[in-house]
Amino acid sequence: MKEEKLRELLDSLSMTEKIGQLIQVPGNMLNADGQELGVRDELGIGDELLRNVGSTLNVVGADQVRRVQEEYLRRSSAKIPLLFMADIIYGFRTVWPIPLALGCSFEPSLLRRLCAATAQESTAGGVHVTFSPMGDLVRDARWGRCLESTGEDPNRNAAYVKACVEGFQEGLAEEGAGKGIASCVKHFAAYGAPEGGRDYNTVDMSERRLRQDYLPAYRAGVEAGCEMVMTSFNTVDGVPATGNRWLMQDVLRKEWGFTGVLITDYAAIAELVTHGVAKDQKEAARLAMEAGVDIDMCTGCYANHLEALIREGALTQEQLDAAVWRVLSLKNRLGLFEDPFRGADAAAENRLYQNESFLALAREAAAKCSVLLENKGELLPLREAGEAEGTQAKGERIALIGPFADRKEALGMWAIHGDRKGVVTIREAFAETPGLDFCWTEGCETLLPEDYTDLPVLAERGERVCWSEEKRKEEWARALEIAENADVAVVALGEDEIQGGEGGSRTKLTLPGDQLRLLREVRKRVSRLIVVLFAGRPLELREVKELADALLLVWYPGTEGGRAIRDMLFGKSEPEGRLSMSLPESVGQLPLYYNAFSTGRPYDGKTANRFFSRYTDCPNAPLYPFGYGLSYHSAAYGPTHLDGRILKRGGTVTVWAEVTNTGSRDGVETVQLYLRDVTGSVVRPVKELADVRKVFLKAGETRRVEFAVTEEMLRFYGRDLQYRSEPGLFRAAIGADSSVVPDAEFELED
Ligand code: GLC
Repeated sequence: MKEEKLRELLDSLSMTEKIGQLIQVPGNMLNADGQELGVRDELGIGDELLRNVGSTLNVVGADQVRRVQEEYLRRSSAKIPLLFMADIIYGFRTVWPIPLALGCSFEPSLLRRLCAATAQESTAGGVHVTFSPMGDLVRDARWGRCLESTGEDPNRNAAYVKACVEGFQEGLAEEGAGKGIASCVKHFAAYGAPEGGRDYNTVDMSERRLRQDYLPAYRAGVEAGCEMVMTSFNTVDGVPATGNRWLMQDVLRKEWGFTGVLITDYAAIAELVTHGVAKDQKEAARLAMEAGVDIDMCTGCYANHLEALIREGALTQEQLDAAVWRVLSLKNRLGLFEDPFRGADAAAENRLYQNESFLALAREAAAKCSVLLENKGELLPLREAGEAEGTQAKGERIALIGPFADRKEALGMWAIHGDRKGVVTIREAFAETPGLDFCWTEGCETLLPEDYTDLPVLAERGERVCWSEEKRKEEWARALEIAENADVAVVALGEDEIQGGEGGSRTKLTLPGDQLRLLREVRKRVSRLIVVLFAGRPLELREVKELADALLLVWYPGTEGGRAIRDMLFGKSEPEGRLSMSLPESVGQLPLYYNAFSTGRPYDGKTANRFFSRYTDCPNAPLYPFGYGLSYHSAAYGPTHLDGRILKRGGTVTVWAEVTNTGSRDGVETVQLYLRDVTGSVVRPVKELADVRKVFLKAGETRRVEFAVTEEMLRFYGRDLQYRSEPGLFRAAIGADSSVVPDAEFELED
């Protein structure tokens, strides 16, 4: 609709109809059976308002969306189409690897392709807006939502968020094209830094750290044109984000120029009362509206108090109209006034759902995101010398053991619209492979009651089936028996889905249940042991590292996980992933991240002297560092060279190294450039990932890999919080992961 017509529409609305546009209700309040995250309190929304709410969440599926939209438009007085929003975080029906895995690809273009495919599925499924990508930087694996983050590096996270927004919104701007879905970048801001890694806990940091490390990814989403931003549950400098005018008005809208829609996280306006910054929901509504929040997700605050606040002069009609205008403008950009169903089409949905090109993409993503942590004696890929790659060595018997051997619940908590029935397990992939001789059993469950305090309750409610003592004994015996008779064991272990995701904060990061004990027993009985590890966060893997001959971290690998794992085990594809997050030696080291400051007493990892920044009972170093990963090829890095020692403003210095594929098979090497600003007006990290190149190298090939370093890459928030570079000494290093020490020196000229 033309803008002047839209303006006329806005002016024609009653107060109730305007306020209605700013309210989002759960689907069951609109007679849908959408995903219900539970309404914490009766919203108290009157019938006239309910008939005019602006949006709903997690109601998906072409038929259902059409039915709900039709019924809504019939009953609504304003006749403005509903917005259908959903948590489509890493795939809709076809589910990709979790974002923490996607961050291991070091390939933003892959994430863009995945999000574009998801947008196609979602549009057919009637969805207009997705609450994705999450831009939250993470440094503490105790936080269950590491799962949804792309990791611990600000530079990479910004690149990934940009790629996701572009992928989701591809074609959105084309007039009436009905392509793409609106992307809602979340959770603004710094939700990934709760104290103690405990979800919803206090976030408190300097404005410098906030701007330097935590804001870049959200900003990248805004600069990529995301249509929506979601406020986070946490405080920022003592004020909850949802009522934080500095964050939402000064930073998001004024500094960054965000003109899209600002929605709260679930019930976050009401939580301003619980946080203790609003005495009641009326004050909470005022604080949120003053902060510039447009849509109230699932509380009655706006519904029950906005009209009175405006009548009393605490808020203005202009504030209300500005918020409604942004919501109507989004609906207009989506073409909803021309087509309220916007392409929702059950036939297209089924045709798209898990079509072969999406499944192939899912397999490609799973291989690019899986991280080979150990490969002693080059056990992987499995084949006999001289055997054609991709086939099992003749006569070898494989024992597939573990709770993730045949588990469809391996998508991660936030694949709420994914089809778990469509997940291909390792067992299924093995079974469909001609000539593959294997036997399998689970051996043990993923969890024991002490691993998940709610387990007994879930079992009582029938939401979780725990084995009988008899089944436990049978499975255990069978596992040891098949291990005894096998040439090689593939042991599929991991963190249970219910342990991670939102509300999944943990203090113990070792493998849960009897899984470690099972691994020890299998180890005693088999000469070659491969561990395939499923997880939604970094785990403590010291003992797994020692027991396994090969250790492949697949995270939650998505719909095609089983086939991707089979292809990697037999060399049809190569695990390309490099860690997006440091894997700790111990949970006691957390928070843990590679781009840390030196401190005045950096520990060299060797001296016995205690008066250094160190633990007396654990190394400082992670078990596996950010950026780490092995491959089936091997690579050698030559020294880092610089073409020039002086970087002038506006100029570049070329940093390069020769990288050689010293292996017997072609492969992709993820070449990483780290820089260090040796002295600054504030302390600077001992290294920062400045750029990455994924380079295909044929066996034996040597390639000169170059990076152009510019003055812009050296900028940071200085003592005055201005974002600029400072002249002085810098060091560079090109390497395979963040364990490299920048030592090639250059100067930035004044
Ligand atoms: C949840 C999550 C958020 C999600 C929203 C809607 O509490 O924090 O990521 O998008 O509610 O489901």
